[in-house]
Amino acid sequence: LAAAVILVAAGSGQRLGYGMPKAAVPLGGEPILMHALRGIVASGIASQVCVALPAGDQGLRRLCDDFREELADGGPLLTLVDGGSTRADSVRAGIAGLMEGIEAVLVHDAARALTPESVFHRVSDALAAGADAVIPVLPVVDTIKTVSTTAGDSTAVAPEVVTGTARREELRAVQTPQGFTINTLLQAHQAAQAMDQEQAAAVTDDAMLVEVLGTPVYAVRGSTQSLKITTPLDLIFAEGLLEGPLG
Ligand code: CTP
Ligand code: MG
Repeated sequence: LAAAVILVAAGSGQRLGYGMPKAAVPLGGEPILMHALRGIVASGIASQVCVALPAGDQGLRRLCDDFREELADGGPLLTLVDGGSTRADSVRAGIAGLMEGIEAVLVHDAARALTPESVFHRVSDALAAGADAVIPVLPVVDTIKTVSTTAGDSTAVAPEVVTGTARREELRAVQTPQGFTINTLLQAHQAAQAMDQEQAAAVTDDAMLVEVLGTPVYAVRGSTQSLKITTPLDLIFAEGLLEGPLG
C-alpha cells in the first residue's frame, strides 16, 4: 500500500508549559519534532510525511526544510501544512496536503516522539493485511472508575461519587500512530465536521470517529516508549528513555 504519515505537531504545549510549541521543546538537545520525524523515516513505511505545524511558526518550518535536505534519495516526500485550532482540524489540514495515490494513512502525534519503528510496522502490517482501521494499545495498569459530580448536593461528603468500575481486562490505553485506509479516514473526518461544538470537543482520537461509522477498529500492541509527552514529568521520562530504551 502507498502509505503516508500525517504528523500532527501544531499544538501549543500548554501543559508542558515551555512558552513555545511543544514540537520545538528540546529533548536530548534537539526539538521534539526532530525525534518524531526521524522515527517515522527510519521505519520506512511512508512515501509521504505531511507535517501539520503551528500556523506561522518559521522556526519549525525551517527545521523541517533542513531535515528534508538530509533525506536520502528514495526517502519520503516531506510536506508542510498549517495546523488548525483543534487536533482534528490539524488532521484535516494534513489530509488536504496528501498527494494523489495515497492508499493508507497513519496519523501520528509529534508528542509521541520516541515511538519505536516496530509499532509503525505493526500498524502498517495490519493495514496491508486488510484492516480499514488499526490502533496501537497497551493494557491498563490502574483500575478505572466512572464518577459523577456531587456539586450542588447538600448531603454530599466529597466532590465526586463513584458510579461504576470498568472491567480492567477489557480496557486498553490508546496510542498513535493510528492507521486507516484513505477512504475510511476521509469518511470519518467528514462525519466529524457535521458535529456540534460539544461533540467535537469530546473527540480525542481519530479511531473514535471510525467507530461511529460502524467500521471495525483493530488493535495491535503499542509500546511504553510511545508515551505522549504531555507534562514536565513526561519530558523527564522521555529524557530517561533516550539514555537507554526499556526492554
Ligand atoms: N495538535 C495539533 N493541533 C492542535 C492541537 C494538538 O496538531 N490544534 C497535536 C499536538 O501537536 C500533539 C498532538 O496533537 O502532537 C497531541 O496533542 P497534545 O498532546 O494535547 O499537545 P498540545 O495540544 O500541544 O498540548 P496541550 O494540550 O498541553 O496544549
Ligand atoms: Mg492539546
